[in-house]
Amino acid sequence: MADEPHGLASVTSEVTAPSQAAAEPAWHHRAAVYQIYVRSFADSNGDGVGDLPGVAARLPYVRDLGVDAIWLTPWYVSPMADGGYDVADYRDIDPLFGTLADAERLIRGAHGHGLKIIIDIVPNHCSSQHRWFKAALAAGPGTAERGRFWFRAGRGPSGELPPNDWRSMFGGPAWTRVTEPDGTAGEWYLHLYAPEQPDLNWDNPDVRAEFEDILRFWLDRGVDGFRIDVADCLVKDPALPDVAGLLADARRPWEDQPGLHDIYRSWRTLIDSYPGARVFVGEIWLKPLSRLRPYLQGDQLHTAFNFDFLGTPWDAARLRAVIDTTLATIGASAPWVLSNHDVTRHLTRYGRATTGNVYQADPGAADLELGARRARAAIMLTLALPGSAYLYQGEELGLWEVEDIPVDKIADPIYERTGHAVRGRDGCRVPLPWRADGPGFGFGPPDARPPWLPQPAAWRRLAADIQPADASSMLNLYRSALRIRRASGYFATDAFAWLDAPVGVLAFSRSDGFRCMVNLAAEPVQMPSPGELLLASRPLEDGLLPPDTAVWLRASRG
Ligand code: NOJ
Repeated sequence: MADEPHGLASVTSEVTAPSQAAAEPAWHHRAAVYQIYVRSFADSNGDGVGDLPGVAARLPYVRDLGVDAIWLTPWYVSPMADGGYDVADYRDIDPLFGTLADAERLIRGAHGHGLKIIIDIVPNHCSSQHRWFKAALAAGPGTAERGRFWFRAGRGPSGELPPNDWRSMFGGPAWTRVTEPDGTAGEWYLHLYAPEQPDLNWDNPDVRAEFEDILRFWLDRGVDGFRIDVADCLVKDPALPDVAGLLADARRPWEDQPGLHDIYRSWRTLIDSYPGARVFVGEIWLKPLSRLRPYLQGDQLHTAFNFDFLGTPWDAARLRAVIDTTLATIGASAPWVLSNHDVTRHLTRYGRATTGNVYQADPGAADLELGARRARAAIMLTLALPGSAYLYQGEELGLWEVEDIPVDKIADPIYERTGHAVRGRDGCRVPLPWRADGPGFGFGPPDARPPWLPQPAAWRRLAADIQPADASSMLNLYRSALRIRRASGYFATDAFAWLDAPVGVLAFSRSDGFRCMVNLAAEPVQMPSPGELLLASRPLEDGLLPPDTAVWLRASRG
């Protein structure tokens, strides 16, 4: 081994994951989970919108990809002010997506294909069309019905100013004033997101009891877990203090409040009372990542997304730092994730000089060929790390962010709430191309209405039906990587060690002689030898690893 270029055999640092991870049920700790954004996945009834029978029909595709589980974005009854994250009835399915019977069939169907199924739960807010909110509006100030939300009198001589200075995550004030039943301008209610998404008051026992009942409703129907929307914001500081003057890294009065832990302890007791290893996955955007740790001690959430990894640009030193911090602070219990339905697709991000995310008004132009090369290398890096990984539908096809959606088609509330300054998240939600030929690239049946968002004509060459025949396609890369990941023993433990490598190159080993090497530098580097090449993100020549390329290797024995 001594003659290996760059001394790939020598361990330069080892990171040991905190022991809590080892006690976790195995499936979610090592799983590859495929996120399905239901309205953009597959349309079975030809209305231009994806639905549950559409998902059910494509389960063999998901199974063949080689993932272990699916996560479905909200399927509940909703006016769709925020793509279903405004729930009017948590115990039924929106007619746009199907019926409760369709959901039950889908759960059974997923299990029949050996796939676990995680659904989205939205506890921070409901829809303004939810029966509780309608009752609160009708009941008036000071009533028990209003106590389930955050209603407050306004400031100013006639209450004409919002109760505090909080801003909605989508832009504009986080408060909307209501008209009271007697026709007068009245109280204000809090909504951290759109006005159609009133925040629930988690200090109210009705709210707690209701959500535990909702969890049971779906656990009784066999779901394997919940992705918890805005998991860190349910509890508010009841003083609702202004935030002007708070330091940038100070805790906001709507996030990470101590009372959250009681809620999740109680949820954990509930979910653990069900057979099988069912899980909670938190959506928590707190920074730094170490702030997730209290939630992941074994008595609350099972995992929470590693958004620091998602937000890191294509830079070896910065990626190495975030991997180190992750493994040292929370171990492998926070899934690696590159994309989801809220962020610019990573293929596009990696094609830019900056990380350029959706909340930017002008993220700059992207080089999609460069982005595609990096995306190929990035998924090999991601899937080689200890822990689980969440993949977002369409990344396996090499889809990019669609940044020229006609403005009259934009549905994301961010566009309106920012006064049209920010286009929002629709660009990563464009319906999938299933077939190269046919209207809507086979998103729906042949006579279907056009997909709810227009697909770029150039997606024809990315259609799911033609990629299997192309050995170099993104789909085949994902399938190969996931197959190796699942079938081999390399990833059976949390073993992980950095290997010596030139500047700009990430190289690490896992168990059983497995090594991953990714070149993020501008120049090719020498490949290590000897060894067996298991997978390369693109063809290699002359024993060189080109820029923006990853390889998986197995050290030769003896
Ligand atoms: C996070 C979800 O992922 C996003 O799509 C949604 O808009 C907000 N939470 C509000 O529910």
